Amino acid sequence: MTSSFSLPMAGDPEPIDIPALSAEVRELAAQRDAVILAHNYQVPEVQDVADYVGDSLGLSQRAAAVDNAVIAFCGVHFMAETASILCPGKTVLIPDLDAGCSLADSITVPELEAWQAEHPGAITVMYVNTTAAIKALTDYCCTSSNAVNVVEHIRREHGEDVEILFGPDMFLGAYVQKTTGHRNMHVWSGECHVHAGIRPSDISEVRAAHPGADFLIHPECGCVTSVMEYVAAGDVDAEGVHMLSTGGMLDYAQEAEREHAGGTVIVATETGMLYPMRKAAPDVTFIPANRAASCRYMKMITLPKLRDALRDLSPEVKVAPDLAAKALVPIERMVAIGPRRD
Ligand code: 13P
Ligand code: SF4
Repeated sequence: MTSSFSLPMAGDPEPIDIPALSAEVRELAAQRDAVILAHNYQVPEVQDVADYVGDSLGLSQRAAAVDNAVIAFCGVHFMAETASILCPGKTVLIPDLDAGCSLADSITVPELEAWQAEHPGAITVMYVNTTAAIKALTDYCCTSSNAVNVVEHIRREHGEDVEILFGPDMFLGAYVQKTTGHRNMHVWSGECHVHAGIRPSDISEVRAAHPGADFLIHPECGCVTSVMEYVAAGDVDAEGVHMLSTGGMLDYAQEAEREHAGGTVIVATETGMLYPMRKAAPDVTFIPANRAASCRYMKMITLPKLRDALRDLSPEVKVAPDLAAKALVPIERMVAIGPRRD
């Protein structure tokens, strides 16, 4: 597994002419019959130029539904791969091929094969943050917005005692295990370097500075287990704690603008998420649990690179057909099982 501290964090962006580049991008998108899909962690100017901004599940669902010939995917590599698997006839572009994911790198094919050999007959559930090769060995994919629903679905289909291998994120795995109460579940010890870096001490400090604020926590965070313990011990009021995917956080923001204008909310996830939340709820104060939680991979996607990708129809992400056919099965199951909104 990769260390939480040896991987790149976001650097300072180059100055760019955002209005001119945005106009160029929109014009090229129209010429290429391209739809621009962007993840919630993308830089603001990329979110603003996109046709759709969302979480991993929403982006997969949107990729599967669009009619355009080209999908320009502003996110990380496994997300573009997922779009390519769902839409084999389309050209899927990613503005920077190096936009990877430390969580996807935390399990390899030989590691998963060895794990499965130790547990024959177990159902394998992998977070969507995995490579296509891992998905091809997987029974169900899930995202942070439907992981609990996926495990509950498997229990209904295969019985309460079904053995489940869940990976690669250990914090999401612990959260799912606790929420579903499923005992026969083994969790891989992988992590995302950005979310693992949001520690219980961050939560204690920010809680002390903003007593009474609500907490929104992405289930990949390194503080998840301790927050669940605070809630169980009665130290934190369960009412104000929400474990949410990035899409769930945005839904929360929209509701908070109507119900809690003037309130303060602590957000434990990658800091790019604050931009769409502040846009959706200008009268609510959103505070990052850890200001350094920035994903350098997500920030590799820039407007100039998006413009170049649309102009050159490159770099393209294309999954080999035999691999794609196998990986499609767990992805389609994931897309069919809807999000959870706590
Ligand atoms: P979401 O599915 O919540 O958007 O999370 C994706 C991701 O990569 C989190 O780091
Ligand atoms: Fe991967 Fe973490 Fe970046 Fe999300 S924030 S893309 S899980 S490295």
